[in-house]
Amino acid sequence: MRIGIIGAGAMAAALGGGWAAAGHEVAIAARSTDAAQALAERISESRDPAVRRLDTGRGAGTVATHEGRLTQLDPSSEPVEPAPQRADETGVQPDTSSAAGGRPVARITEQSGDSGSVAPTPVRAGPIGLTIEWAEVVLMAVPVGALAELLRAHGTALDGKVVIDCTNAFLPDESAPDGTTAFVLSEDAVAERIAAGAPKAHVVKAFNLLAAEVWAGTDRVFDGARLAVPLCGDDPAAMRTVAALAEDLALQPFPAGGLHRAKYLEATSVFAVGLWFAGADARAMLPPLSAAFAVED
Ligand SMILES: NC(=O)c1ccc[n+]([C@@H]2O[C@H](COP(=O)([O-])OP(=O)(O)OC[C@H]3O[C@@H](n4cnc5c(N)ncnc54)[C@H](OP(=O)(O)O)[C@@H]3O)[C@@H](O)[C@H]2O)c1
Repeated sequence: MRIGIIGAGAMAAALGGGWAAAGHEVAIAARSTDAAQALAERISESRDPAVRRLDTGRGAGTVATHEGRLTQLDPSSEPVEPAPQRADETGVQPDTSSAAGGRPVARITEQSGDSGSVAPTPVRAGPIGLTIEWAEVVLMAVPVGALAELLRAHGTALDGKVVIDCTNAFLPDESAPDGTTAFVLSEDAVAERIAAGAPKAHVVKAFNLLAAEVWAGTDRVFDGARLAVPLCGDDPAAMRTVAALAEDLALQPFPAGGLHRAKYLEATSVFAVGLWFAGADARAMLPPLSAAFAVED
């Protein structure tokens, strides 16, 4: 899949690096071509030529990656040979074992790691407009304050594209009691604002809940449960696409409703991050599903 990433910061590196390692074509775009180029090079250089290890919860599995090579973005060029992406091709198989809570999860199966047997996946760098034109999926990995300008300039170019919104509109909570670290939202429905600015795009809110370091890491199973990615969006095909991209990172996608519910995901993020910054383990406030209700419905 052709994934264009707007922004060349921490989230672009984390998610772009993971998708490139999983065999997708990734292009980085930023205000500064040098910054985009630098990140594209960094992703290419950091990719293990043979395998990328991920914690699958059933012992280390491997997913084949390929020698990185950097190319300039040129939408008029012939597309490179499609990279292996989907479950049956990459070895990521649905797993409905009880260890996975009966839900399908990504499982990375052993592969040869022979980079000569698959097409290399280039990491590209280019200007924002060309990157959007080239991409099938666009990740908005910029500060919320950049969105208005981006949507004004490129909203129409996003027609028909899957747009992943991973942004958070965090501000320090000025009214927090002394000694606590907390945040509030500067606005409470960013994903809906993106959809209003790009009305023919298929916006999916995802990946906003956890730090870039988590997405970039390889730990995927905590206390026996696979790390989940809630997704909110209105277009079923776009939701399937983003769910598959989550699985490519060995994450468990949770479809969590329409885009009107993305505001709850944005609020969840600011609330959980505030707890973590204050030193509280936000995970501890949620029981497992089996204990979530006193009486089963
Ligand atoms: N970092 C995390 O742990 C994390 C976790 C979840 C969600 N998020 C959200 O993800 C988004 C990106 O976060 P990040 O940590 O990756 O930010 P970052 O490291 O600060 O990088 C932001 C990138 O956006 C670019 N940018 C800024 N204004 C722009 C504009 N007007 N047009 C195009 N590009 C522009 C910056 O380029 P310049 O160098 O030119 O400024 C930079 O490359 C934010 O909304 C953040 O809230 C972050």
